[in-house]
Amino acid sequence: MTVTTISDLSRHAGQEVEIHGWVYNRRSSGKIQFLILRDGTGFVQAVVSEGEVGPEAFSTCDRLTQESSLVVRGLVREERRAPSGFELTVKGLDVVQVAQDYPITHKEHGVEFLMDKRHLWIRTPRQNAILRVRAEVIRAMEDFLNERGFIRVDAPILTPNACEGTTTLFETTYFETKAYLSQSGQLYNEATAAAFGRVYCYGPTFRAEKSKTRRHLIEFWMLEPEAAFFTYEDNVRLQEDMVSDVVARVLERNRHELEVIGRDPAPLAKVQAPFPRITYDEALDRLRAAGRDIPWGEDFGAPDETIVSQQFDRPVFVTHFPAKMKAFYMQPDPQRPEVVLAADLLASEGYGEIIGGSQRIDDPALLERRLREENLPAEAYQWYLDLRRYGSVPHSGFGIGIERTVAWICGLEHVRETIPFARLLNRLTP
Ligand code: 4AD
Ligand code: MG
Repeated sequence: MTVTTISDLSRHAGQEVEIHGWVYNRRSSGKIQFLILRDGTGFVQAVVSEGEVGPEAFSTCDRLTQESSLVVRGLVREERRAPSGFELTVKGLDVVQVAQDYPITHKEHGVEFLMDKRHLWIRTPRQNAILRVRAEVIRAMEDFLNERGFIRVDAPILTPNACEGTTTLFETTYFETKAYLSQSGQLYNEATAAAFGRVYCYGPTFRAEKSKTRRHLIEFWMLEPEAAFFTYEDNVRLQEDMVSDVVARVLERNRHELEVIGRDPAPLAKVQAPFPRITYDEALDRLRAAGRDIPWGEDFGAPDETIVSQQFDRPVFVTHFPAKMKAFYMQPDPQRPEVVLAADLLASEGYGEIIGGSQRIDDPALLERRLREENLPAEAYQWYLDLRRYGSVPHSGFGIGIERTVAWICGLEHVRETIPFARLLNRLTP
C-alpha cells in the first residue's frame, strides 16, 4: 500500500493509501464515525463504517480521543464539499497511542493559556498555516537573494561588540570574560561583503528591550543582506524588489494558508515596487497634521509608524533620519550631514517598521569619530576599522525582521504567533 501525506492525496484519487497522523476531531452518528485527521501536511475527513472495517476496528474508534496517533488505510475519494477536495473511506486502522485528555479543546481558549501550551497549539490549523507562511517567506527571501548573486555567510551569535546600541544588549559570561548575544549580524556582514561582494546572513538576534508591544520579541530572526560597491539607492531598490517578490510568492503559493488565517489578500496584491518614499522631516509634518508633535531628532513610537503607514496603500520608506538618533555606522548625507543615508521600511495597513537599512560609513577617520561620540570602546572595534583601512568601498545593507514581516503578510494582531516559540518580556516558556 502506498504511504502518502494528506497534502498529496490529490495524486491518489481512486486509490487506497496509508496515512500516518493524529485525530484532530471526531464525531459519530451511530453507524458512521467521522474522523478529522491531521498529519502535519494538512487535514482530511476520514469516514469509518462498520461495514468497511469490521466491528472490532469500528469499536476502537470510540476510544479515539483528540490527538490520538494512528495509521489509517483508506480509499481516496474526490469530495467537492471537503476543504481539501478529498475524503478518505477508511478500510482499516491501527492505533499507535490513545492520547490522554488533550488540554486544547475545540472551545475558545484565552491567548495566555494557548501560549503556555504553545508546544501543542502549533498543531492547530491556523497556527500551522502561519508557520507555513513563515517558512515560505524565508525561502522566498533566500531564493530572491541567491538569484541575484548574494551568498549566505552567517555571523556569530556570541559577540564582543554592540551593533545596535548598548542599552538592549544581552550580556552573558564567556569563560573569564563577557560576551553579548548578537543584536545584528551586520558588522560581520560588512567584513564578508568585502570578501565575497554580496552576502547575507540569517539567524536569531536578541534585544533586551523592555518593550511589551505587539511588535517586540526578545529573540527574533533577521535576514540581513550586505553588498560592497552598493549605494543607498541600490539598497533601497533591492529592498522594494525583495519585499514585492516575497509577497507575490506567498500570494502564489500560500493561498490556502491565507484563507485558513482569514487574511484578505487584496491589500497584499497592491504591494508592488516602487514603494513611496518620504523623508523623516516629511514624516514629522504628516504626524503634526495628525496631531502628534514630535521634536526633530526624536524617534517615532509604534503609534506614529501606524499613522504614517496607514496613509499609503503599499509599504513606505522613511528616509534621511537625524544622525543622532541612529546607529554609529550610518553614512551622513554629503548634502546635509546632520541626516544619514538610511531608510526604514514601514509595512502597509498600519504595521510599521519591518526593515532598517543604510549606507555605511567607509571613511576610517569619520568612523573613528562616530565611535568616540557614541562612547563605544575603540579596542573592540579595531577589526571593524580594519575594513576601512584595507580597500574601503561604499557599501550598504539592511535587516528585515522575519516575525514582523510575517505578522503583516498574515494580517495578525501580534508577532507572538509568527514564531514557533516566542520569547517575550514576560515569557521564556515553553
Ligand atoms: O532596525 P534594526 O535595529 O536594524 C539593524 O539591526 C541593522 N543592523 C540591520 C542591518 O542593516 N543589517 O532591526 C532591523 C529589523 C527591524 O526593522 C524589525 O523588523 C526587526 O529587525 N526588529 C525586531 N523584530 C521583533 N522584535 C524586536 N524587538 C525587533 N527589533 C528589530
Ligand atoms: Mg530600526
